[in-house]
Amino acid sequence: MAEDLVKIEGEKAIIYAGLFPQIQALVGDESDAVANFANVAAALKEAFGFFWVGFYLVKNDELVLGPFQGPVACTRIQRGRGVCGESWDKAETLVVDDVETFPGHIACSSLSKSEIVVPLIRNGEVIGVLDVDSDEIATFDEVDALHLNQLCSWLVTVI
Ligand code: SME
Repeated sequence: MAEDLVKIEGEKAIIYAGLFPQIQALVGDESDAVANFANVAAALKEAFGFFWVGFYLVKNDELVLGPFQGPVACTRIQRGRGVCGESWDKAETLVVDDVETFPGHIACSSLSKSEIVVPLIRNGEVIGVLDVDSDEIATFDEVDALHLNQLCSWLVTVI
């Protein structure tokens, strides 16, 4: 069992490690935020088959839906509300194993079971979040948190 877990976590890390240079090449010298967010969402969805991958961007003190891949989603989220709003408010990555146990979780789809939200922080300010949803319980862990944080830290430097 422990061996299986190590193997699975290792495989996930390998996929992230291979994906990051691909995304960097894909972005190249493009600086348009919408274009880059759209391709990053598509690349993550394609590599892992996640249920929903997308960005919410801070506009007029709200999170507004940005480029995403997956089913239609809620368009606006208030600061502190749901997993995305709390990640924004705390400027922290949140990993939720079971969305039904997260107080105030915003259910854009009843099929979403677990979630990770990573803030996009530029010059100390949260400018948006990356939200990734799974249709299985407990999909995300510290491996996802580490690699998605690295991805987002880099992304804010190129947009
Ligand atoms: N579940 C999120 C809302 C966004 S959707 O999952 C795409 C939340 O609680 O913030």
